[in-house]
Amino acid sequence: MEAFSRKNGELHAEEVALSRIAREVGTPCYVYSRAALGTAFDAYGRGFGNLPHLVCYSVKANSNLAVLAELAGRGAGFDVVSGGELERVLAAGGDASKVVFSGVGKQEWELRRALEAGILMLNVECPAELDLIDRVAGQMGLRAPVSLRVNPDVDPETHPYISTGLKTSKFGIAMERCMEDYARAASMEGLDVIGLDCHIGSQLTSAAPIAEAASRAVALIDRLAEAGIPLSHLDMGGGLGIVYDDEQPPEAADWAAVLGQAVGGRELTILVEPGRSIAGNAGLLLTTALFHKSNADKNFLVVDAAMNDLARPSFYDAYHRIEAVEETPNTVVADVVGPICETGDFLARGREVPAVEPGGVLAVMSAGAYGFVMASNYNSRPRPAEVMVDGTEFHVVRRRETTASLFEGESIPDGLT
Ligand code: LLP
Repeated sequence: MEAFSRKNGELHAEEVALSRIAREVGTPCYVYSRAALGTAFDAYGRGFGNLPHLVCYSVKANSNLAVLAELAGRGAGFDVVSGGELERVLAAGGDASKVVFSGVGKQEWELRRALEAGILMLNVECPAELDLIDRVAGQMGLRAPVSLRVNPDVDPETHPYISTGLKTSKFGIAMERCMEDYARAASMEGLDVIGLDCHIGSQLTSAAPIAEAASRAVALIDRLAEAGIPLSHLDMGGGLGIVYDDEQPPEAADWAAVLGQAVGGRELTILVEPGRSIAGNAGLLLTTALFHKSNADKNFLVVDAAMNDLARPSFYDAYHRIEAVEETPNTVVADVVGPICETGDFLARGREVPAVEPGGVLAVMSAGAYGFVMASNYNSRPRPAEVMVDGTEFHVVRRRETTASLFEGESIPDGLT
């Protein structure tokens, strides 16, 4: 389904006019479509069909409790990378036994909490982590279910900052040495070695790299079985790309089919950890135009959202389509910039955008993933509100921060005033 569409020239989220949300909640404001989240999640399940599988939504993409609750209600598992994300999943009613915990620097308290909650498995990212988990599990009198995150050395052909499966990246354990790490893990009292995990990168617009990674992973699983270490779970991470501009990524069903093919009838539960492909196009960022200005021969459209609200354009030079909420016939070639005191603060550069008048509202599209979660308080700017639309209704699922809340935890030592 189309999460966002025009009705009589005005952009709507499902059945709600975005101008109404801008008016009642203010801007900047993230807006999510409940139906679009559900549709994107369900596409994976349909793709896998009868193959044993678990879709673990990657919480880092958008961790709002309402988003997690919607997906939990559809039977989602979750991929978390911190104790904080785990608590969010539990608070949203997620099922701990469907949670996988990845991340290169897990700490003891996080491991303890994850084991106490009864998660499905820990994705181990370095050999020394095996010893830590073995010790913690031993102290807790249980066996920790683990998989090793193997680095398959496959180029995902995406932005270098979001490529993770090359052997020079900090992620995972090198293919060459993982047989010996598996053997050591299998000999540990506190560990139950159940799986193999891979994640090669994000915003992949072709399934070829994931097919290659999966075939390498399956070959390793066969070698492990021969060595007396049978595995039951293959977690291929996330990574399926979305359309921001004119990309042509595969569908979730194609992705699932490629993984099913690689597994080829082996008795393995396939896990995936999609984030962007579930939340990305289910959300947008509303922002209000403040001023038009020109310096030298360059036009600027100054808006009330900035790099602290949506970091992707500044961080990755990422493209997000910008539309006027109320259709505007005129366009202007401009940099769309925010109020932050950095030249790198932009939402678009040299782009033909709608020439909305000051006060007009713009929608920055495809901002449902890695939008709010990467927002900061830089320049002491309160983070935006988040809204979830459900048919003809909308709910504020996170209120806008107040300026007072920005320095709530701070104090001035005696004698400084
Ligand atoms: N699993 C693991 C182990 C990951 O590292 C990631 C993303 C995912 C799953 C989810 O990947 P997805 O399906 O969303 O591609 N901030 C960047 C993206 C960073 C991705 C980090 N890892 C951006 O805005 O493009």
